[in-house]
Amino acid sequence: MAEIPEVVAHRGASAHRAEHTRSAYELALEQGADALECDVRVTRDGHLVCVHDRRIDRTSSGRGVVSALTVAAMAEVDFGRSAAEYGVLTLDELLGMVRASPRPTKLFVETKHPVRYGGLVEHKLVALLARHGLAAPAVPADSPVLMMSFAPAAVRRFKEAAPGVPTVLLFSRFSGTRRGGVLPPWADLAGPDVRLLREDPGFVARAAALGRDTYCWTVDDPVDIELCRSAGVRYLATNAPESTRLHLADP
Ligand code: G3P
Ligand code: CA
Repeated sequence: MAEIPEVVAHRGASAHRAEHTRSAYELALEQGADALECDVRVTRDGHLVCVHDRRIDRTSSGRGVVSALTVAAMAEVDFGRSAAEYGVLTLDELLGMVRASPRPTKLFVETKHPVRYGGLVEHKLVALLARHGLAAPAVPADSPVLMMSFAPAAVRRFKEAAPGVPTVLLFSRFSGTRRGGVLPPWADLAGPDVRLLREDPGFVARAAALGRDTYCWTVDDPVDIELCRSAGVRYLATNAPESTRLHLADP
């Protein structure tokens, strides 16, 4: 029988709290998530912040493009949904939360806008991990951080800079030999959209036969949760970690 997938809280417990906020990640940890997922961008003054979109307009009371704002300016902005929550969450803070967690917890960091800024996000990520002792030369055997991107160039250059940190190549369609489970050498895990598994659940076994585990996103529907479990997915990213965990424990 296949192992139960590990539950990754996508943008925190974002079904219940505003995405990418401290409270969304605190709730995910309280709800027993095995791992957290976040998107990162670089501010004008060089800080990595947890923001999905190019602009902060959708997720905050502020306006503007992340790369044109300072982290101090984003400290004055409300990122809460029903309850006010001022200040953007930095990746440094989130990493601190993960490392302070009483249970071993992983963090999946997705770099955004990797092409436009020519590797700046990955460069900053490697530097931050190094400050935490999580990148070369002293990477722990079981790295708590995994890096991911839809951009192959971003994953490749990150892997070159931090070979000990696992990488996930995200994709939302099968192209070339991908359907057969083939991944480039610098991508440690396959990261398909769950819609691809609805079409072809055998992908997970083919990737596994070639030595690659699968991280699947974004899995909220009980039918998809079952699909991931039966296909042998290792990590399942969901906006609702508690109900997903309960479903996996008692289908
Ligand atoms: O976990 C991967 C998934 O987050 C990719 O899509 O748009 O939610 O960042 P998006
Ligand atoms: Ca993401």
